[in-house]
Amino acid sequence: MTILKIATIGHPVLRQIARPLDREELRQPKWQQFIDDLVETMRDADGAGLAANQVYAPVRICAIEVRADNPRYPEKKPIPLTILVNPVLTPIGDETLESYEGCLSVPDLRGKVSRYSHLDVSYLDREGNPHAIQAHGIQAVTYQHECDHLDGKLFIDRVTDTSTLTSWKNYRRHHK
Ligand code: NI
Repeated sequence: MTILKIATIGHPVLRQIARPLDREELRQPKWQQFIDDLVETMRDADGAGLAANQVYAPVRICAIEVRADNPRYPEKKPIPLTILVNPVLTPIGDETLESYEGCLSVPDLRGKVSRYSHLDVSYLDREGNPHAIQAHGIQAVTYQHECDHLDGKLFIDRVTDTSTLTSWKNYRRHHK
C-alpha cells in the first residue's frame, strides 16, 4: 500500500466536482488499489474521513472512519470503516447542529459549521453493492463534510461566523 499525498487548500483539485464511477470501473484493480491507499492515507494522517479529490483523484469516493483513539477527534464517537462510492445525502427534517470542523486539506484550522442533524445516505460500497442507511448527529456531520469535498466544497465555505476560526492549539485551549 502507498501513503498518498494530501492536497491542501488553494489546489484546484479540491474545487473540482468529482465524477461518478460506474460499477464496472469501480471493480477494476486500479480503483480497488486506490481505495486501499485512500484508507491507509486517512489512517496515517489520523483523519476521520478522506475524499478522493483530497488525494488528487477527482472521483466520487470517500472513506470515513473514527477510531476510539483518534488524537485529532477524541470527542467523536467511533464510526467503523465505511467506503462510500457515489454517495447521495438527503436531509431528514430541518434540524441542524453546530460543531467545530477541521480538515486534512486545511492545515491547523478549525471553525464552527452548522449541518443537518439527520440524513438518509445512499451509496455503493467498494464492491459496487448499493446501501441505504441513516446517519445522525456528529456522524451526520462527518458524512456531510466528506461528501462536500466531492462537490468541490470545503468546510470553511460554510463557516458563517468567521470569528469562530481557530488554530487547533487554541481550539483545545479555548473552545473545547
Ligand atoms: Ni475535509
